[in-house]
Amino acid sequence: MNTNSNKPIGLFDSGIGGTSIWKEVQLLLPNEDTIYLSDSLYAPYGQKSKEEILQLSIKNTEFLLQKGAKLIIVACNTATTNAIKYLRANYNIPFIGIEPAIKPASLQTKTNCIGILATKGTLNSELFEKTSALIDHNIKIIECIGEGLVELIEDGKINTVEMDNLLKSYIEPMLNQNIDCLVLGCTHYPYLINSIQRITKNAIKIIDSGQAVARQTKRVLETQKLLNRNNNNVQHTFYINKNKLVLENILKGNTFTSIEQIDF
Ligand code: DGL
Repeated sequence: MNTNSNKPIGLFDSGIGGTSIWKEVQLLLPNEDTIYLSDSLYAPYGQKSKEEILQLSIKNTEFLLQKGAKLIIVACNTATTNAIKYLRANYNIPFIGIEPAIKPASLQTKTNCIGILATKGTLNSELFEKTSALIDHNIKIIECIGEGLVELIEDGKINTVEMDNLLKSYIEPMLNQNIDCLVLGCTHYPYLINSIQRITKNAIKIIDSGQAVARQTKRVLETQKLLNRNNNNVQHTFYINKNKLVLENILKGNTFTSIEQIDF
């Protein structure tokens, strides 16, 4: 056992979306303490330059390290695709990232046409370009920037007519091109699954990477001997630099220790 094993797992996202990953992680790893940083004041990251995304990712990493994180989950596709290479090269702890699950979608499609909804920052990244180049060339990938979706989620407007209309404007053109799988390439989007199912009349597969990230986290903790095996007092602490109520709402029904509103 490693002496760091009883330290917490850190997670960060541009906002509250990464809680979709946190939910999977704490289900699979119930003995782990977690600290989650929601950088909502600076959301969305998706429209920012690579350099800005990198600087924000460094700032978030430093915060979680100060809080004692033993491993960091970059619970944001935009930050992963733009910054994880730098983080791994410059900090001496394991980083787990999240990338759009286009490979699993390409293995499941029957129409040979898949859609991906993600931020501009993710779709334009070098890492995404590399991953999509590895997909079977007979499969058509329709990319769509989900502009405005993160902002509405951060404003607590998930189940609204405004959200439905915006989502329809992105999804219907993809349906017209015969997609049978839709990849959710942003950790905020799992909160839209009900609306997407309604819009698509449940006729397509919706694929996200949350469970895969949790499994990968477990594998890395095991191989690095960092698993917390004995923990009778599991702590889940959340930090947010904007409206705490929106985070409280999204965590309803989950057990956690505290949410702190911070200047950050
Ligand atoms: N949750 C982030 C992601 O996975 C949202 C990015 C943004 O803030 O635009 O990409």
